[in-house]
Amino acid sequence: MAPKENIPPVVLPCTKPPLILKGQKAIVTGANSGIGKAVALSLGEAGADVVINYYAGDEEAEAVVKAIRDFGVQSFAYKADVSKEDQVIALFKETCSKFGTVDILVSNAGIQRDSPLEKMSLDQWNQVIGTNLTGQFLCCREAVKEFKRRGVVPGGSCAAGKIICMSSVHQIIPWAGHVNYAASKGGVNMMMLSIAQEVAPHRIRVNSIAPGAIKTHINKDAWSTGPALESLLKLIPYNRVGEPSDIGKCAAWLASDQADYITGTTIFVDGGMTLFPGFTTGG
Ligand SMILES: NC(=O)c1ccc[n+]([C@@H]2O[C@H](COP(=O)([O-])OP(=O)(O)OC[C@H]3O[C@@H](n4cnc5c(N)ncnc54)[C@H](O)[C@@H]3O)[C@@H](O)[C@H]2O)c1
Repeated sequence: MAPKENIPPVVLPCTKPPLILKGQKAIVTGANSGIGKAVALSLGEAGADVVINYYAGDEEAEAVVKAIRDFGVQSFAYKADVSKEDQVIALFKETCSKFGTVDILVSNAGIQRDSPLEKMSLDQWNQVIGTNLTGQFLCCREAVKEFKRRGVVPGGSCAAGKIICMSSVHQIIPWAGHVNYAASKGGVNMMMLSIAQEVAPHRIRVNSIAPGAIKTHINKDAWSTGPALESLLKLIPYNRVGEPSDIGKCAAWLASDQADYITGTTIFVDGGMTLFPGFTTGG
């Protein structure tokens, strides 16, 4: 087997991606940091107007808005807690008032509150389920209402709307010490599948992206020191930690008409983490 080392990501030639989302209106939740920020940038670069939802960090949100406007599209930041029904309704109302409608939802906001089971408080459980699962439910519900109200726009996207739920490899890999998080992502999977089944006849596509280990705040402890990185890379056959842009590029494509026949699917963007590398030489 090749020696484990941190191989830097491949730098692709600097070509402008095609405007596969030109004129479409997108909401990305949790978009002032990490994966959500990369997704928002990729959607903007592909021609979408993008709402930057966030929970805390006004300056970071405004910096993302500015970077997106530099692509020549519209963007604004909207502070809302996705676990609160009234705030999610207000986020969609403001988007429709400023942009006219919503074509794409990337339901990305998520948190971890880790603890061994016996020490996990009900508050830690409720916070994670509230943001990662109830938050996604509320956003999906509001998006579907708007997609159904508007329907397919002639000359626009083939679909009446597209939803991408940000899941995790932990929708299928159990995770000791993180039962709240793993349960929330397992829930996201069944929620996504059931919504996809319900709304497909309305030409609404619903899918998930399940990232593996991506370099962001949420998992800094797992990649920011040499020993931690070495242990993490043992779980990643492709031998590098993911970059937020790996997810951004996937999301822009999945939201576009290039993926028009895809609904009810999870795309694992994980460098092979779900290939269970522990079984490479055993089992
Ligand atoms: N980084 C990874 O390796 C990884 C792997 C699998 C899945 N994910 C998922 O990707 C998503 C983004 O995580 P990240 O790694 O970019 O972490 P991050 O901490 O960098 O970003 C999380 C974002 O969610 C926002 N947020 C938190 N609570 C919120 C709330 N109640 N309302 C609105 N926004 C809220 C934060 O403000 C932030 O913008 C999460 O759903 C996470 O579970 C991440």
